[in-house]
Amino acid sequence: MFTESQALRRVKPSATLAATDKARELARQGKNIISLSVGEPDFDTPENVKEAAIKAIRDGKTKYTNTDGIPELKEAICAKFSRENGLTYKPNQVNVSPGGKAVLYNAFVASLSPGDEVIIPAPYWVSYPDMVLLAGGEPVPVLTSIETGFKLTAEQLEKAITPRTRWLLLNSPSNPSGAAYTKAELRALADVLLRHPQVWVLTDDMYEHLVFDDFEFWTIAQVEPALYDRTLTMNGVSKAYAMTGWRIGYAGGPVELIKAMEKVMSQTTSNACSISQWAAVEALNGTQEFIKPHQKLFQERRDLVVSMLNQAAGLECPTPEGAFYVYPSCAGAIGKKTQGGRVIQTDQDFTEALLEQEGANAVHGAAFGLSPFFRVSYATSTERLEDACARIQRFCASLS
Ligand SMILES: Cc1ncc(COP(=O)(O)O)c(C=O)c1O
Repeated sequence: MFTESQALRRVKPSATLAATDKARELARQGKNIISLSVGEPDFDTPENVKEAAIKAIRDGKTKYTNTDGIPELKEAICAKFSRENGLTYKPNQVNVSPGGKAVLYNAFVASLSPGDEVIIPAPYWVSYPDMVLLAGGEPVPVLTSIETGFKLTAEQLEKAITPRTRWLLLNSPSNPSGAAYTKAELRALADVLLRHPQVWVLTDDMYEHLVFDDFEFWTIAQVEPALYDRTLTMNGVSKAYAMTGWRIGYAGGPVELIKAMEKVMSQTTSNACSISQWAAVEALNGTQEFIKPHQKLFQERRDLVVSMLNQAAGLECPTPEGAFYVYPSCAGAIGKKTQGGRVIQTDQDFTEALLEQEGANAVHGAAFGLSPFFRVSYATSTERLEDACARIQRFCASLS
């Protein structure tokens, strides 16, 4: 009989994938379903990037590469960090992995020993705590609130740090809340970290280019250079250049950590896809004209969704600074009854009933560690968003 490993038994399956599966099943049964659970831009990869990949294939760039990235891509990443973040990294301080997800996992496997704690502000991206568990560490979620814009405060950070704290995991703009930290907010967190030299910072900047209303993006090593020697600045091409399927993520950090991550890769995945690496060189070095118009489009969609959801009875939807998600509170719906007589006791009851009654598929907040909320992704067309938000409004109005 098959039994899961001890390590895997600590981990739960992805709740976002489960929600998507359920919606797919209902669609197969002929129901009219709108999915608000997508985690990727609904645009195609830019042409110049595709062409670079085709050229790489034609030029025979189809073999194993250096384990943690081709020199050309590492140079492009160093240039990006310098140009956009004012951070100086040398190629031996850069890791390229098969996706941002793999960067995070390689960093945790490379650095965590049993009992090591990772502070994770909630709501968090679903994969963080389970990755930490798989790598043998202990996730320490810290609940933020709608009042602080879903951001960790300096006081909360100070309280959460113990002698076993190894990492603080920051994600700005955030999946699922869209919240992004200002320079002053990062400054306040940095001041706490300066008092605790054993704590390193892993900052997931995946959504850096999706910020709105002239919000100025900052990353923590830029705000406090004294943290540079214990920060892993992680990023990728997935969201900024609509390249989720290409599987390229990267990070800049201290040489010893980068070497340890390379060691993990050398015995597991080896290099990220050679062709995708050449495509990523073009994404970072080539024209950046893809970014601005999409930023603008996402901002318009955000405004539409926030406005429509705030008109739904019992919902409160803050306006996030970035990413392509909103994270409304459904506290006003808790305790109410659906038309079918079901009492909404949790945010999962809310999203399940919403799916059954109106065919709109969102993900419940418990999956992201903070209830009672739900996540709506607006990485879909304006028409579909209008339809979806109207369904949510109808559903909320039907509760009694
Ligand atoms: C916050 C965050 N970090 C990392 C990733 C992973 O990105 P990639 O597709 O490059 O593995 C995602 C993807 O959804 C994300 O939302």
